[in-house]
Amino acid sequence: MLEYFKQTITDLKNENRYREFVDISRLKGQFPYAINNQNGQKIVVWCSNDYLGMGQNEEAIKQAISALQSYGTGAGGTRNISGTNHEIVKLEHKIAQLHQKEAALTFTSGYTANDTTIQSLVKIIPNLVIFSDAKNHASIISGIRNSKAVKEVFNHNDIVHLEELLEKYSPSQPKLIIFESVYSMDGDFGKISEICQLAKKYNALTLVDEVHGVGLYGNQGAGLAEQLNLGQEIDIIQGTFAKAYGTIGGFITAKTEIIDAIRCVASGFIFSTALPPVIAAATLANITHLQNSNAERQKMHENVAKLKSELQKIDIKIVDNQSHIVSVKIGDAAKAKEISKRLLNEHNIYVQHINYPTVAKGDERLRITITPLHTEKMINDLVSALAKLV
Ligand SMILES: Cc1ncc(COP(=O)(O)O)c(C=O)c1O
Repeated sequence: MLEYFKQTITDLKNENRYREFVDISRLKGQFPYAINNQNGQKIVVWCSNDYLGMGQNEEAIKQAISALQSYGTGAGGTRNISGTNHEIVKLEHKIAQLHQKEAALTFTSGYTANDTTIQSLVKIIPNLVIFSDAKNHASIISGIRNSKAVKEVFNHNDIVHLEELLEKYSPSQPKLIIFESVYSMDGDFGKISEICQLAKKYNALTLVDEVHGVGLYGNQGAGLAEQLNLGQEIDIIQGTFAKAYGTIGGFITAKTEIIDAIRCVASGFIFSTALPPVIAAATLANITHLQNSNAERQKMHENVAKLKSELQKIDIKIVDNQSHIVSVKIGDAAKAKEISKRLLNEHNIYVQHINYPTVAKGDERLRITITPLHTEKMINDLVSALAKLV
């Protein structure tokens, strides 16, 4: 039997798809620095999804320590069997309030939130047909596959194609449209307004993944929908705590009946241990901080503009977008891997290369994330290293 595993590894290596994880230690108080444990060198991390450096927010750490001392490490079990820790009650209340929805439900990851919510919607709504953007995240694809619902995949951000597919079904057919607000690889925005208009016209529910939007967009960090004043047009908003909010876990927020029904049928929620209070407390502190402070968002967006302009000055091709994602086009799996390796080993700069299947073959890239804590010197060092290697 071991032969199968060996063969898989060999195939992946031959296709440049074998994954090597860099062993690092993130340093509290020194983000975006970390230690590269392969050689003990201090490196600058340019590929963290801790987009705003909130993973080291002092108030969140204080709240986490206090929760740890009050409640201990774990959640004690699933909420169904062991009760809901009060820190989660407070967190769900905060999420609903932030998004101006009636209720919210937390999950142990954003992945689980998508996977489980989609399967639950299909259990709740008989004959539901799902319309899914072609570039939706793996967790959405998994949810749709696991649900066994009829699916229609529309070309990425193609409203005309989406309408053609919607038209195929009778007005009485229950429909759900799923898309993202910020697509994490190309950094382009989902067409929230147009899709919500179509949803109204065809009487479809909408589920929007705001994983790369929450904390980063909108005056209170509620996401791109808040920034565009469209939050009320969307039926279900999904998000994560693991990126701009600097912790771990996922959520959905919607009308009370939607959340209540999903809560009662969602397998990945009911049969999985809840987030521990320590995480809920830290997350609540970070959401509250970003609700009341625009400073981190502003500085990050300033840094994004600066980095994009410096890269363009030296003719490095980046994917054109309006978001915080800086994707340097490489277009070759082996080359992308080699550049990433040399950046790390020769320049102490950590940028992870992104290869198939995360992006299409030939679309390999370096995905750079710049935070409010990257300095001008760090930007200059990165740009001059890339000038030598790309
Ligand atoms: C668009 C999108 N949705 C969902 C997820 C899953 O979120 P989490 O990392 O919290 O599981 C990710 C993770 O990268 C993502 O990019």
